[in-house]
Amino acid sequence: MSLLSNYTVIGGKASEDLAKKIAKKLEAKYLKSELRIFPDGESKITISGKPNGKIVVVHSTYPPVDSNLIQALLHVSKAKKHSSQVIAVIPYLGYARQDREFLPGEVATMGIVANMLKTAGATKVIVVDIHSKMALNHFKIPSKNVSAIPELVKYFKKLNLKSPLVVSPDCGGIARARDFANQFGVKFIALKKHRDRKTGMVEIRSKNQKQVKGRDLILVDDMISTGGSIVKAAEFLKKQKCRNIYAACTHALLIGDAEKRIRKAGVAKIVSTNTIPGKTGIVDVSPIIAKAIV
Ligand code: R5P
Repeated sequence: MSLLSNYTVIGGKASEDLAKKIAKKLEAKYLKSELRIFPDGESKITISGKPNGKIVVVHSTYPPVDSNLIQALLHVSKAKKHSSQVIAVIPYLGYARQDREFLPGEVATMGIVANMLKTAGATKVIVVDIHSKMALNHFKIPSKNVSAIPELVKYFKKLNLKSPLVVSPDCGGIARARDFANQFGVKFIALKKHRDRKTGMVEIRSKNQKQVKGRDLILVDDMISTGGSIVKAAEFLKKQKCRNIYAACTHALLIGDAEKRIRKAGVAKIVSTNTIPGKTGIVDVSPIIAKAIV
C-alpha cells in the first residue's frame, strides 16, 4: 500500500459519501465537486482544488440516469486534463441492462455509454455488480467488476436466521445466488420468472416449492428497480408458507412506491449497498472498491 498518496479522489454529488470513504481507505486527497443545475436542466460542475497523481472519479449513474451520466462524464473529462490516468468508479452503472438488442430495432445503449466514458478520458472503469458479463464486454478500456456479495453475506451472517435458504427470483440470477449461498454456507433455489419484454410485467412460473416451508429466505438480486421481480417472488414464496423473507441486492433503485409494495408483499427487510445512497443502503462497498483501485 505504498502508492496510496499517488491518488486524488473526486466525488460527484451522486456519490459524495462513498467517494469520501474510498479516499479515506486510500489515504488519498479528496476533492469536492460543486454541482449547479441551470433552469433548463443543464449541469455545471466545478471541482475545488487541484488534483494530482492518478485521479479516481466516483460517480454512480442512478436516477436521474441521464443527468448523472452526463455529470460523471464531465468529472472524468476534467480529471483527464490533470492526469493521464483516470479511474472512473461507477458503482451503479445505469444502462447495463440494455447490453444487447433484445427486440429488433432496439439500441444496445450499453456500448454507447462505454464509448462515452472512454472518449471523456477514462483509462479504467470500475463498477460494482454489473448486470451482466455482456455489459462489461462493451468496454474497450480496462474494466473491473467488483462483487458486493461478500459484504452482503457478512451482514446476513450477523442475523439469526432460521434454516436460511437463498432464492434467486429468476434463472438469470443463478450464478449470483449460488455465490451468495456458497459464501453463506447454505443452499439456494431459483424461481422461474417471466417478463413481458414489451410491457415489463413480471410473473412467476415456478411449480410449488415445498422446501421453503418454515424457513427464512433471502431473495438475492443485483438490483431492485420497480420492485416487480421481488414483489412477485415474495407473494409466491409466502403462499408456500415460508417464514421471514429478506431482500438482498447491491443496487436499490426503489423507483416510485417500490419499497412500500415490497413490504406489503411480505418482505421483512430490504438490505442493499451504498452504491446508491438511501435508507436501505446499509452495506458499505468502499473497502472492496478501494482494494480494486490499488
Ligand atoms: C433482471 O434481470 C434484474 O436482475 C432484476 O431482477 C430486475 O432488473 C429488477 O427490476 P424490477 O425491480 O423492476 O423487477
